[in-house]
Amino acid sequence: MGVIICKNNIFVLETKNTHYVLGVDGAGYNHHIYWGKKCAVGDYCLNDIGNENSNHTKLDEYKQEMTPFGQTMYRDCDIKAEFDDGCREINLNYCGHKSAQNSLELIFTDKYYPLKITLHYQVFDGCDIIKRFTTVENTGGGKIVFEKLASAQFSLPGVKPYTFKNTNGAWGGEFLETECTLEGGYAVYESRRGASNHNNSPYFIAHRGADENSGKVYFAALAYSGNFKVSCARDLYSTTRVVMGMNDFDFSHTLLGGERLDTPPVYCGHTIGLGEMTRQMNAFAVKELLPRQFNKKVLPVLYNSWETTGFGVNAKQQMRLAEYASQIGIELFVMDDGWFGRRNDDRAGLGDWYVNKEKFPNGLDELIGRVNELGMDFGIWVEPEMVNPNSDLFAAHPDWVYHYPHRNACELRHQLVLNMTREDVQEYIFNILDSLLSKHNIKYIKWDMNRPFSETGAQNLADPKMYSYLHTMAVYGIVDKLKAKHPAVAIESCASGGGRCDLGALSHFDQAWTSDNTDGIDRMTIQKGYSLLRPVKTMRAWVTDIEGINKPCSLDFRFAVAMQGSLGLGGNLMKYSGEDLEICKKNIALYKSVREIIQFGDMYRILDIEKDEVLLNQYVNTDKTKSVAFLLANGTRFFKKRIPVCFAGLAESKRYKLRIQNKTYEKGGAYLMNVGLSLHVRGADYNEIIIIEEIKPT
Ligand code: DGJ
Repeated sequence: MGVIICKNNIFVLETKNTHYVLGVDGAGYNHHIYWGKKCAVGDYCLNDIGNENSNHTKLDEYKQEMTPFGQTMYRDCDIKAEFDDGCREINLNYCGHKSAQNSLELIFTDKYYPLKITLHYQVFDGCDIIKRFTTVENTGGGKIVFEKLASAQFSLPGVKPYTFKNTNGAWGGEFLETECTLEGGYAVYESRRGASNHNNSPYFIAHRGADENSGKVYFAALAYSGNFKVSCARDLYSTTRVVMGMNDFDFSHTLLGGERLDTPPVYCGHTIGLGEMTRQMNAFAVKELLPRQFNKKVLPVLYNSWETTGFGVNAKQQMRLAEYASQIGIELFVMDDGWFGRRNDDRAGLGDWYVNKEKFPNGLDELIGRVNELGMDFGIWVEPEMVNPNSDLFAAHPDWVYHYPHRNACELRHQLVLNMTREDVQEYIFNILDSLLSKHNIKYIKWDMNRPFSETGAQNLADPKMYSYLHTMAVYGIVDKLKAKHPAVAIESCASGGGRCDLGALSHFDQAWTSDNTDGIDRMTIQKGYSLLRPVKTMRAWVTDIEGINKPCSLDFRFAVAMQGSLGLGGNLMKYSGEDLEICKKNIALYKSVREIIQFGDMYRILDIEKDEVLLNQYVNTDKTKSVAFLLANGTRFFKKRIPVCFAGLAESKRYKLRIQNKTYEKGGAYLMNVGLSLHVRGADYNEIIIIEEIKPT
């Protein structure tokens, strides 16, 4: 494994099961050569593509790792820049490479202008994931203005069209899967809303009829929470390419002399089957990507007040809720929106991060002290990037929001977006949060962000169209700084539900709020979409009182859904019957006994609620000695009787014990995975949690 340097400027990135091969030709053009199963390294070469003519240019046909704009290249480019004298073409020389065992850099410089471009690659031990990004550097004196700056380009193997999987979501319906087969033209997945948003996901998943267990899958996820673009294309040469990175919509990026920029990284991989893709990315993210403080720790079971008390929080009622929460096994009590400023609804208060004295006459510490006394940690909600015009902050600093001087700034949810590209705004936010964490025993921050950007004027910037990038980096920077100073504090990324849970956010935040839709039945679909290329452990999932329109959906059913991530609760425990509280207690205890497997194990999507009427998801620990499976159905039809339920991910030669439908089985792994158990999974509200444990040989 690692980087293999071959003759003739050919470079092989060897992962656990794959080769990713690139090269540079004598004229200095970079080429993508191959991505897939390993071949003999010495066989790789640059392929001649024949002559060009007035209608077919070589540059258009080349498969490349990075395509600058210019010359006779007419397809989607990665990098487009304007130099000081108005020249808009980049023309590169190859200057050589730098390599270490697991990393490679290819260096190019413009033939005339002071532009240096470096392509970076890194492989990781034990998996098939490769990290890619690009550095651009102004090595001269004048300025270079980039109109487009993608992170990476991919050319997919073969000539047949690919099917692209992505998500098409909205608030309350995040991560809904979509597929389209691209025979020609473009398919674009993007965000233009400032943050990565609920709609599309910043990744591509390309296959030709793959399923969970078979078929070649190529994928790459961009770690960036601002406006992004994933542009997939199939051309007349039958080549399918993807260019991905920061969106060139309402974008520019200026580099002055001596300045450089690392584009947001992309994590790509090739697997057989979609299930393996998920498992590889999940294990990789937990090990290499998630912030270090909590990546290897199990996440606590939390209670969140939002669904129960909304904006109407107060000390007495939160303490009562906390008392109930502690009785059922909650470990972290999080008070959501409503505790600060004049915040009685969504019309006022954002920006005024001081405690509301009417609601908390004795300050926050009274509540925090009680929560701690009850044996739980305390967490709190903030929405630092926003301000209500009805707030002290806005009255003092009306110029702190994105705006144009002669235009009205549109409010959404009665709030405006703070111009986080300003250093004074960043300082204000950091200081407010730092002092909150320094003065109180807070162990958890839910960092919310409830509206897309508009009127993104930023007069403080010489190049205002850098706002999305600079805003995103400012958020990451503040989170990192807070974590460095308060390492015991975990931070959750929330944006009106799941509006910011890309791999960029998850490189800085420890977890994400998945969706405000906590309906157990809808959640099965939302969570599946989340699970494709996002780590399971980061997926916060609450059991609430929202049974939704999809009834019946019992408390047990909702637990069986929410346990498939990092469990939380949000229902009105004060109104729960003794029996309901017992159900909560039982399920929370069960979750604690298996959460290590769920948060750190391998996930197998065996039956799909949309396609099979039955959901079967299984999580297996790394040494395959223990597993937990969730079998759910919410309305089977047509008098279906018994189905063979086959499990996955077990060791064929180990023997296992499991109890299901009130019957105990002792079987070999091979039997459980190939023959399966004949089970009657029928009707609505069917839910069963199956624990499968190895019978240790005596
Ligand atoms: C949106 C979030 O998704 C909710 O969980 C809650 O925190 C509200 N914002 C509070 O305003």
